[in-house]
Amino acid sequence: MRRRNSSVSFRVVQAVGLATLTTFLVAVYLRQERLSALHLLSVRRHDPAPDGKPQHQPAAADKRAPSAAAADGAVAATVKVVAQAAAKPLPEPWGSHHMFASPGAYGTCPKEWIEGSWTSPRSMGSATLPLTLEAQREIYEHQHPKDCSKAKYLIYRVVPNGIGAVFHVAGVGLHLALDLGRVFIEAPGTFLTNTKECGDRKTLDSCYFMPFAGCQPTAEQLRNAVQLFGHTPLDSHADAAVLIASHDSLLKVRPHAPRRFQERLQTTALQPKKHYYWWRAQSVAYMLRLRPEVRADLEARRKKTLAGPAPAPGCISVHVRHGDKGVEAETFDNPVYDRTASKVRALDPSRFTNQLFVSTEDPDTIEYFVNHTSSKWRTGFTRGVPRKPDRSRPNLSYMAEIGYYEEMLNSLLNLDLALECSAFVGSIYSNWVRLIDELRATLRCKADAVFADVRYENPHEMDLNW
Ligand SMILES: *[C@@H]1O[C@H](CO)[C@@H](O)[C@H](O)[C@H]1NC(C)=O
Ligand SMILES: *[C@@H]1O[C@H](CO)[C@@H](O)[C@H](O)[C@H]1NC(C)=O
Repeated sequence: MRRRNSSVSFRVVQAVGLATLTTFLVAVYLRQERLSALHLLSVRRHDPAPDGKPQHQPAAADKRAPSAAAADGAVAATVKVVAQAAAKPLPEPWGSHHMFASPGAYGTCPKEWIEGSWTSPRSMGSATLPLTLEAQREIYEHQHPKDCSKAKYLIYRVVPNGIGAVFHVAGVGLHLALDLGRVFIEAPGTFLTNTKECGDRKTLDSCYFMPFAGCQPTAEQLRNAVQLFGHTPLDSHADAAVLIASHDSLLKVRPHAPRRFQERLQTTALQPKKHYYWWRAQSVAYMLRLRPEVRADLEARRKKTLAGPAPAPGCISVHVRHGDKGVEAETFDNPVYDRTASKVRALDPSRFTNQLFVSTEDPDTIEYFVNHTSSKWRTGFTRGVPRKPDRSRPNLSYMAEIGYYEEMLNSLLNLDLALECSAFVGSIYSNWVRLIDELRATLRCKADAVFADVRYENPHEMDLNW
């Protein structure tokens, strides 16, 4: 997941360009704050479901069929204002999702998702990336064949990496499995489960997430598994019941969306070269279906650690990634994030408030926003969770020391909180920022929200990397 070194100095030059950026943009007349408050009101009428039962999303999100969706006056009013909000987007380049070539149609936020989808009882928008529900259902059906005796499998072994990168690479494994007509299976032994809390549940989809698949290969089939090498054509070994993916085999499909979606994606407003990123979003939305006990744990951690104002409509999520400085991607200093958040707020101060939710592994960043920008921002964050003060020390050694379960749960909590905001600031070079960006535009129905990158002035021009 490392970026090419040759592009780093170019990026530094661009970063300096960003720092000199001064002027900004027209405020429009949307009274989003009031709208969002109404929206939240109707969302709250539905009980939070930390027990992991499939959640049925509020009718407020359905702007396609307002009369059918509105059972009572409050909901009807919300539906109406949300529909108006959608009619008045911000001016470009902020008015459409950064993957879009030009303003185009979103999907409607579904009332019902596939089982276990990680939607929020607290904060949902109204627009998804095109084809989201369709894709979620198709992945689910593909992964749960009716007759397991006829199923063939692709096994993928997770390679140690940052948590965000792990999800993204696994999503390419899921892509390859779809293309090959095989059920995607995670091999046991994933490093993130190497912790007492997971016990002998040695896969992500037994310790943290709902099972990725409804069928498993037999012991006999596993004994005859065939390894797929980079030089093996992907259509060889079609008869083998079990194939084992290699990283090289993933690289072959990585730049695309799964074959079955390609034609449909051509009919959307998405830039064709970003179709693969649409898939990153769908694959993480599918995989991150939390287990009931993980949902319950997140609720408990939220009560214990959330400090400063809780995310509220109009807040801006800021994710600052400082780990592995110089090892991985280019990093940016706190004031750059601060300025980018100000730029977002200036787009429409009635829609974006002076409230931030800051997530980061760097304790200095928390200190910066909480103690040194308090005249400007009210900052929410998680208190008392382990962070990583030494930027030069590799992530992975920190993670092992903190404990993988602890790290995973605190990361998921910060992710969930970030997704409750109305706009998003970060560096798209970070896998974690991409995860925020992917989930807000799918499961949280905020595809029409602003994402502002600390380096790219125009988000449509971002290099989305892997
Ligand atoms: C370090 O952590 C960040 C997020 O916490 C992640 O995006 C990045 O990929 C990790 N790097 C490595 C080398 O694990
Ligand atoms: C803010 O400053 C106070 C006083 O120096 C300190 O006790 C506190 O830990 C700081 N807060 C953060 C989040 O760093």
